[in-house]
Amino acid sequence: MASITIRDVKKSYAKAQVVHGVNLDIASGEFVVILGPSGCGKSTLLRMIAGLEEISDGTIAIDGKVVNKLEPRERGCAMVFQNYALYPHMSVAQNIGYSLKVAGVAAAQRNQRIQAVARILELEHLLDRKPAALSGGQRQRVAMGRAMIREPKVFLFDEPLSNLDAKLRVQMRSEIRKLHRRLGATSVFVTHDQVEAMTLADRLVVMNGGRVEQVGTPAEIYGRPASRFVASFVGAPAMNILEGVVALDGISLLEGSRRLPMPRAGLPVGTKVAMGIRPEAVRMVDPGAAGAVEATVDFVEELGAGRVVYVDLDGASFSVVTSESAHPAPGSTIGLKFSPSDMHFFSSETGARLDFFVASLPEPVV
Ligand SMILES: Nc1ncnc2c1ncn2[C@@H]1O[C@H](COP(=O)(O)OP(=O)(O)OP(=O)(O)O)[C@@H](O)[C@H]1O
Ligand SMILES: [Mg+2]
Repeated sequence: MASITIRDVKKSYAKAQVVHGVNLDIASGEFVVILGPSGCGKSTLLRMIAGLEEISDGTIAIDGKVVNKLEPRERGCAMVFQNYALYPHMSVAQNIGYSLKVAGVAAAQRNQRIQAVARILELEHLLDRKPAALSGGQRQRVAMGRAMIREPKVFLFDEPLSNLDAKLRVQMRSEIRKLHRRLGATSVFVTHDQVEAMTLADRLVVMNGGRVEQVGTPAEIYGRPASRFVASFVGAPAMNILEGVVALDGISLLEGSRRLPMPRAGLPVGTKVAMGIRPEAVRMVDPGAAGAVEATVDFVEELGAGRVVYVDLDGASFSVVTSESAHPAPGSTIGLKFSPSDMHFFSSETGARLDFFVASLPEPVV
């Protein structure tokens, strides 16, 4: 087990800077997930930890020791990739044991370690098979076995599940989690899949454009997103965001004349804000109900256990997650209700979270 300390780490390719000063402390034994859109620098950061990519500026330390100049094999990290590229002509056992063979470990000891790893990954009955005769999930487990057998201090995963079908992905997710509980090795897992990130992480690091937007537990990131970017990126369906201007008695939507309730204390009248509310925090009520906002139903998406109702709110599109049996028809008018305490506010200019509402909140006044 090992801690990882990342200080002001930057990365440039030729003239293009792709990582802009990342700071991050990963505790020994922690499972950290780096989440962000394609091209935000996740793999680059992971590869710099592994030593597969040179660090342009800043330092990375593993267990307190700066590793900037160390070769990958000297860092005690094992990496599992999306394309696990097993050797096709070797059996599962040979694939798992290959690095030990290269390192000159004697056959008897090698076999013992292969057996131990195979037991943990439930690959014992497959040790003689060739990769071509394995399912996708089994291949991925062999790839993990190959990493595990080196008994690394740190596991680095770069989207290892994205080539698997949805069902297998869920299954492998819980296997990785179980494995982590069992081995307790420090793990850094990169993904652009927010469900994967939320379910796996002790702590989440949300990246955007080569910068860290927020670090926190999945609950913190979901409950108090630090920026508009994090708010829209985490959660499915995405958080509803309405542009507004602070008026005397609440927020006015830019695209309409409606007033939405807002805490009275706080921002100056005229300030432009983005108000966010999660689809699961909105309730559908009768259009005439007290305090309800009227909206027109666009379409409904069935989820099995519930549904997502997409509505038009003064020209802005808005979604509502409901488990009720009511099935509103497209074109019909419904009422929406939400509590001011479920609202998130972000600066329209910087996107940063605005936490000005500390006083008591008024009832909806729409
Ligand atoms: N060898 C390279 N030369 C130049 N630019 C590169 C190189 N490798 C990556 N980049 C650029 O660096 C940025 C970050 O890439 P990176 O692979 O880290 O993104 P990512 O977050 O892992 O994305 P994805 O989710 O698509 O894998 C991208 O804009 C990419 O085009
Ligand atoms: Mg990547």
